[in-house]
Amino acid sequence: MDLNGASALVVGGAGGFGEATVRRLVTAGAKVVIADMAVDKGQKLADELGSDVATFVATDVTSDESVDAAIKAATDLAPLRATVVVHGGPAAGKRMVNRKGEAYSAAIFARTVDVFLTGTFRVTSKAAAAMSQNEPLDSGQRGVVITTASIAGFEGQVGQSDYSAAKGGVIGLTLTAARDLAPSGVRVMCIAPGTFFTPAYGMEEEEAQAKWGPGVPNPKRMGHADEYANLALQIVDNDYLNGTTIRIDAALRFNI
Ligand SMILES: NC(=O)c1ccc[n+]([C@@H]2O[C@H](COP(=O)([O-])OP(=O)(O)OC[C@H]3O[C@@H](n4cnc5c(N)ncnc54)[C@H](O)[C@@H]3O)[C@@H](O)[C@H]2O)c1
Repeated sequence: MDLNGASALVVGGAGGFGEATVRRLVTAGAKVVIADMAVDKGQKLADELGSDVATFVATDVTSDESVDAAIKAATDLAPLRATVVVHGGPAAGKRMVNRKGEAYSAAIFARTVDVFLTGTFRVTSKAAAAMSQNEPLDSGQRGVVITTASIAGFEGQVGQSDYSAAKGGVIGLTLTAARDLAPSGVRVMCIAPGTFFTPAYGMEEEEAQAKWGPGVPNPKRMGHADEYANLALQIVDNDYLNGTTIRIDAALRFNI
């Protein structure tokens, strides 16, 4: 799908994967809305790229009004043809039953699901509604939404009950969304990354690579955010990719 003359929305656009994706979308010719809760980082990225191609909108995926405003900012620029949903959220890292025999909080579980899964649904459905108003391209396509799961959505590790359930939900949403949106000419794809170095790790890359790199089969390192972004743009480009989840994990399978 040609993004020249189109807008694109990256939710979580100030994060590791988000920033790399914003840069690739701008290079592909889109006017990009960077939607994120991180105001300073998001505005700094928009300023660096320039107001002719990038706009920052403070956005919280748990709010309808907030997501509506981000989508409106994109459609005000040009027809919205690509949306990448790649925001972060809470990660508790607690077992379902702790050493004292206490059950993990259902309220915290629900909050994680709300941010990662319901937030993804909110952005996907609202972006698709906007895309359904676009004139179709010669291909008949009106737009594409790319969501972000995790390989933990397939192989959840110890302490990831909320995160793996939310990401499994994002994977499960993909085919239904693609089927629901087929009459609108909107594709939906999901990317399930393995371990990629981003600011989410809260440490220097060298330290993170030393810790997690050796466990990855080949290449024996954490992924680079631009490798995620590259896949996102390949999905935008290829109309025949629809309704499925692509693992990008260098053959990593989480064990316990
Ligand atoms: N980095 C990895 O190894 C990895 C692996 C698998 C899946 N993922 C997934 O990729 C996504 C992005 O991860 P990342 O590594 O780029 O993280 P990151 O922390 O670098 O970026 C996440 C961004 O999302 C924003 N954000 C958080 N809550 C938000 C909300 N409620 N509304 C809007 N924006 C919000 C943050 O401000 C941040 O800028 C996440 O969904 C994560 O679960 C990452």
